[in-house]
Amino acid sequence: MATLFKNIKELIQVRTKPISFVSGKEMNGLPTIKNAYLIVKEGLIFDFGEMDNCPKSDFAQVIDATGKMILPSWCDSHTHIVYAGNRESEFVDRINGLSYEDIANRGGGILNSAKKLQETSEDDLYQQSKTRLEEVIRLGTGAVEIKSGYGLTTEAELKMLRVIKRLKENYPIEIKATFLGAHAVPSNFKNNKEGYLQLLIEEVMPKIAEENLAEYVDVFCETGYFSVSDTELILKAGRKHGLIPKIHVNQFTAIGGVQVGVKYNALSVDHLEEMREEDIDVLKNTSTMPVALPSCSYFLSIPYTPARQMIDAGLPLALASDYNPGSTPSGNMNFVVSTACIKMRMTPEEAINAATLNGAYAMGLEKEVGTISIGKQANLILTKPINSYGFIPYSFGTHHIDKVFLKGKLIEN
Ligand code: NIG
Ligand code: FE
Repeated sequence: MATLFKNIKELIQVRTKPISFVSGKEMNGLPTIKNAYLIVKEGLIFDFGEMDNCPKSDFAQVIDATGKMILPSWCDSHTHIVYAGNRESEFVDRINGLSYEDIANRGGGILNSAKKLQETSEDDLYQQSKTRLEEVIRLGTGAVEIKSGYGLTTEAELKMLRVIKRLKENYPIEIKATFLGAHAVPSNFKNNKEGYLQLLIEEVMPKIAEENLAEYVDVFCETGYFSVSDTELILKAGRKHGLIPKIHVNQFTAIGGVQVGVKYNALSVDHLEEMREEDIDVLKNTSTMPVALPSCSYFLSIPYTPARQMIDAGLPLALASDYNPGSTPSGNMNFVVSTACIKMRMTPEEAINAATLNGAYAMGLEKEVGTISIGKQANLILTKPINSYGFIPYSFGTHHIDKVFLKGKLIEN
């Protein structure tokens, strides 16, 4: 049962040799084949090349892509799509002049979402979350990382992670789960942060390991949330349970979070809106992927990650959505890619590499997804007729996707 895509105007992000990620100048190279074919078999990419060499065999299905392009699905390595309710009243508060910090200090923000989630049943939480997962799949996302961190009690954190597990079981999209218990100090531990960290380490983490509910561990390492030494405590405990770090750092203040990430071999350090020279330097020649979240900068009107400076210094960069109810109520990776070009001065090639191959690496999925390579999952975006791939970021806000495929199967709208 093979499917042939023929007459593809341009097949984008074609990699014939295994590659983990691209960095520095390499980020500006995006290999493509014009007038291409692509064959998908049993959910995987089986073959591709120029139309002149297209095999003449019988195919179960033939899709004519004349005028259209194909690229690997977006790899969104940082989301919080399992949450309950929304926070549009805080959005209005911000319009009226309050800052993200002011709102958090009034007991809003993450604690507001935690309260809602604690009161929501696991089934209801699953229903709310699956709607968002289906939405991002239709928008071209083919692999996604999802964090806990709106539970902030043993029971509610486990509830979030079990919902993620159910999503993994029920959808063809690749999903990775991250434990973010250290997202905020809950009100019942207001003056006892140490007690909360102890709960996470002694009670919650062992349960997560026992039920095999997460691959990664995250901490919101930020002034007013968790310090560098709190972060070290959590990462050390995570290591005992085989949880690899992927952490929130340098969103509002630079306090040494990048350094602790590198020290503990984090797979990624995410946000990075506030970067000092030494934060860029410490990431050089490491296996830690810096991840920028431009939709968060857009929504909160905070600085954008200095992508130009980082890439010009030779670093790799991945792009992700940060889809969450407080700082980024959008999981649209097309918008992320556009915003990276428009506001962070990334070229279309750099942005597409950052949102596919480098995003896959930031989830430990670079062998499965992120490029058009034989043996990888056939997670594909088929565009509407477009002039060039540069049109994708250029036409911001326009829906340029015709169809999406996960493991070779068409996702019905
Ligand atoms: O990545 N910064 C920490 N966590 C989320 C936002 C949390 C919230 O406001 O609900 C983020 O931006
Ligand atoms: Fe986040």
